[in-house]
Amino acid sequence: MNIALIGSGGREHALCQKIHDSKLSKKIICIPGNAGTTKIAQNINLDFLNFQKLLKTIKFHKIDLVIIGPEEPLVKGLVDYLKRHKVRVFGPNQYAAKLEGSKAFMKSLCKKNNIPTAQFKICKNKKDVNNFLKNSNLPVVVKADGLAAGKGVTICKNKKKILNVSNEIFKGKFKTSKKLVLEEFLEGEEASYFLIVDKKNFKFFGSAQDHKRVKEKDKGPNTGGMGAYSPAPIINKNLEKKIIQKIVNPTLAALKEKKKPYTGFLYVGLMIKNNEPYLIEYNVRMGDPECQVIIPRLSTDIVSIFDKALKDELHKINIKWKKTKCMTIVLCSKGYPGKYKKNKKIKQLKKFKSNKRSFIFHAGTKLIDNQIFSNGGRVLNVTSIGKKFKTIRKNILKDIKEINWKDGFFRKDIGWRVIKKW
Ligand code: AMP
Ligand code: GLY
Repeated sequence: MNIALIGSGGREHALCQKIHDSKLSKKIICIPGNAGTTKIAQNINLDFLNFQKLLKTIKFHKIDLVIIGPEEPLVKGLVDYLKRHKVRVFGPNQYAAKLEGSKAFMKSLCKKNNIPTAQFKICKNKKDVNNFLKNSNLPVVVKADGLAAGKGVTICKNKKKILNVSNEIFKGKFKTSKKLVLEEFLEGEEASYFLIVDKKNFKFFGSAQDHKRVKEKDKGPNTGGMGAYSPAPIINKNLEKKIIQKIVNPTLAALKEKKKPYTGFLYVGLMIKNNEPYLIEYNVRMGDPECQVIIPRLSTDIVSIFDKALKDELHKINIKWKKTKCMTIVLCSKGYPGKYKKNKKIKQLKKFKSNKRSFIFHAGTKLIDNQIFSNGGRVLNVTSIGKKFKTIRKNILKDIKEINWKDGFFRKDIGWRVIKKW
């Protein structure tokens, strides 16, 4: 099969590697890809939000299957568009993608279907905000309704901050959001649970925990993710049953009822409190960096999984997972998630020898004259697998030292929770 993969992050490099390993894949094109994917695929530098140009490229390269990594093209309806043009594509339709594309849509669906989630109010103006604040405890979580590249959520400890953040959103800070959601703050431990879904069935697709805050001890502003590990030990069989019964089943049923059944990867973002799951967010794609720690643990051919999912035959495949654990630490450009410099050379990377235990997924990188340069905030995912998280992390930190990138920084404490216990 000729396969096109949309996106340029660490998630896409991990998916690309697994697709490359498949017996079913022939040619792979990455649109636009990064320095890592150039070794195993053909990168094509093209704006994937330009659907017409994208379709032309897909037809030109005789693509049999399109895989979409990031949320923006999904939320903007790329799956519907490609299907209308008879292209075989894996991912949710535009309506179902609102689970991630609109927090107000997601929360309303939860309310209608009694799905456990934080108490909330959808606010269209200041008056709505003030009304919610009359009966709520602090802190309050303020969320822009639409996509905001991970920057739309603020945990506010006082009323002044809530009003300021809300005001900014109403004034148009995020172009995608005219309204916002105010939420009760949930205490507990976060975990991410993944599924692959077709019109009739779904299958478990790994669990992980990531570290969203930029600084050690989970301090500082939120980022796209500074590191992750899989599996997430907090998700036990009993909890998994509750996640499926109380959260996943009613969600999928609600979308089927609207004649817009969900298909694709589904990322269930959870807060776990007293062994009870609460839905914090849905993402309609794999997580980044969660994908980078889940994919290395997958034994089954990923292209055969996509193929079955597109035939609504996921029930016919047994998806197998390795017993090994996996962790990744994200090497970022100094300044991220604020302002950072691009085009910084990563000299030692060429000397880094990956092996079965330790490897790197590129994220914000690009090749210029066969040299690797940074091209984003999150630059490399230094990844390792093994039996014990403690040893795995030691190996990653050794590898980062070897890469010795002066313009980068990283968190040394990824996995602190599991390293204490596991
Ligand atoms: P979201 O984009 O909705 O996942 O929010 C980003 C992050 O904000 C989450 O991963 C949580 O760490 C935090 N967060 C969001 N909603 C809540 C909530 N209701 N209670 C506590 N933390 C939250
Ligand atoms: N790591 C969080 C996300 O992918 O949304």
